[in-house]
Amino acid sequence: MKQQLTIALSKGRILKDTLPLLEAANILPAEDIFSSRKLIFDTNHDNIKLVVIRATDVPTYVEHGGADMGVAGKDVLMEYGAKGVYEPLDLDIARCKLMTASLKDAPPVSGRIKVATKFVNVTKEYYARQGHQVDIIKLYGAMELAPIMGLADRIVDIVDTGNTMRANGLVPLEEIAYVSSRLVVGKAAMKMKHRQIQPIIEQLAAAVEARKSEGK
Ligand code: ATP
Ligand code: PRP
Repeated sequence: MKQQLTIALSKGRILKDTLPLLEAANILPAEDIFSSRKLIFDTNHDNIKLVVIRATDVPTYVEHGGADMGVAGKDVLMEYGAKGVYEPLDLDIARCKLMTASLKDAPPVSGRIKVATKFVNVTKEYYARQGHQVDIIKLYGAMELAPIMGLADRIVDIVDTGNTMRANGLVPLEEIAYVSSRLVVGKAAMKMKHRQIQPIIEQLAAAVEARKSEGK
């Protein structure tokens, strides 16, 4: 008998790129996720369910076995520091960079640098590696505003087109990490449900390659 399998998907911008990959792996939600208020969705497989949660909660669910596998951005995974999850596949969607940035003509900082970010752990680690002592200010969004309002000297945030930074008079400085969305699998699930999970990983990998060869 097939065991139940739960896949945690990040709601928000990753979701619309994740669903076609799942479809290519023949996993289809039983109803339209975008127009529903549900959090759990049946699929075309009796034993597979999808849960749709905040991106930052995906590694928590997968590490603790609340979901067997999931999709999350590398930024979220780095920040969470997920030791209890495997990361078997780069899904090559939601590509962007995690960068430091400052106001365009910011004078050099004397003393400790104030850095505003929602990526507190990644930021701490990055500046520690550079040998800089920094004061970190935790924010939950709109990091670009912090230097403008005098809250911080730098920010650490996601950059894709660079439009948000430009529109707010900021310039990206250093690249901390290349970010894309990854498939994650819980360590316990990989052991206990390997026969079900492995073919899904393979089908998703094929879908990622097909998408690449279409030049997407
Ligand atoms: P939460 O809902 O927990 O606050 P969030 O608002 O950061 O999270 P999204 O904006 O949906 O969630 O972003 C999800 C993921 O998409 C990020 O973790 C990152 O990997 C990626 N991402 C964020 N911004 C961009 C962007 N501008 N371009 C490409 N990918 C991005
Ligand atoms: C993300 C990120 C940046 C912006 C970067 O914000 O936090 O602000 O995208 O993209 P760009 O370089 O193409 O402008 P998002 O639109 O997801 O808003 P949020 O962080 O407030 O959710």
